Amino acid sequence: MPSEGTTGETYELVPGVPFRLHRTDKSRLSQVDFHNLPFGKVFSDHMFVAEYRNGKWQNFRIEPYRTLQFTPAMIALHYGQIIFEGMKAFRTVDGKPVLFRPEKNIQRMKRSAERMAMPPFPEDLFLAALKELVWLDREWIPPQEDSALYIRPMMFATDEYIGVRPSETYWFIIFTCPVGPYYPEPVRVLIEREYVRAFPGGTGDAKAGGNYGASLMPARRAQQKGYHQLLWTDGHEHRWVEEIGTMNVFFVIDGEVVTPPLTGTILPGVTRDSVITLCREEGIPVAERPIAIEELFAAYEEGKLQDAFGTGTAATITPIAEIAMEREDGTVARILLPPVQERTLSARLKQRLEAIRRGLAPDPFGWVLPAIPERLQSTAQA
Ligand code: COI
Repeated sequence: MPSEGTTGETYELVPGVPFRLHRTDKSRLSQVDFHNLPFGKVFSDHMFVAEYRNGKWQNFRIEPYRTLQFTPAMIALHYGQIIFEGMKAFRTVDGKPVLFRPEKNIQRMKRSAERMAMPPFPEDLFLAALKELVWLDREWIPPQEDSALYIRPMMFATDEYIGVRPSETYWFIIFTCPVGPYYPEPVRVLIEREYVRAFPGGTGDAKAGGNYGASLMPARRAQQKGYHQLLWTDGHEHRWVEEIGTMNVFFVIDGEVVTPPLTGTILPGVTRDSVITLCREEGIPVAERPIAIEELFAAYEEGKLQDAFGTGTAATITPIAEIAMEREDGTVARILLPPVQERTLSARLKQRLEAIRRGLAPDPFGWVLPAIPERLQSTAQA
């Protein structure tokens, strides 16, 4: 429970739902160098917390970010009932804190929860909690381009029990980190043809912690060989491209933007959806279709592979510098993408997304939402 160094105030999260706001009186903000932000290592002052027990979510509160104490017999630590999300808040050019497409992440976390036999966190409370937290820590949003306040909602099972069954109690937490780019440079990826990230019927389209845990050993092998990440392929044939460990993947082949379809084994990325939507609106041919490795190599040989990039909340739009594939005889086939200055499409899409988020360009799809609690909307907007 928050106690030391906090003062509490009670508000309504949504009408009829009380929540307690415990502000820190020891802000760490002045210790942060906003021009030198590593990804995911600096945590802002507060976090939102709620608990699930007796069949309902309760005890909604914001408290100072802190270390938690749990039993070693907690179900999440043994059977992986743990899911999370990644989203970002930005500061517009006129200084307002905004969220980018939060409803997409809220819906995805609901689907992840259902897949993992966890109780979804109510959507209206989720959005209200995001607004409260980001508004409270709005000074933590870095102002410069390519930076943001990364938001990490998470939910985990807290029953003290070592039998295999869904937990009856959970914690839901949202904490935030000011971040710079996840990948400061174009990435080199290795095509993975031995291990599998996801299989039809598995949890590949859920944002479950275990998906990432299972990917670490194969990814580390690739990193030891000098690659940033793996390009995962399907589990049946290791022939069809799926996604990169931390991002969805796009190619531009002979003027057409292509990305693998959402068939249950890849994450339905919010940035992926935004890129597809912007392409459609701009009349750029875009297709969600299966892409075979041999198609990529053939397009490269014929000079038709014009661009390749990853998309993700953390990674935004990250150019791919190289795609490598180890052959059975031990040699390596390589696709070397053109220099980034020549990749006009992905650079333009990235710029347009950034401009929409910062209020520098129209927002035709209503993606940007003020991070202002409803209770303050009339005063804060003025
Ligand atoms: C995100 O893009 O938000 C993710 O959760 C990916 C993670 C590797 C940082």
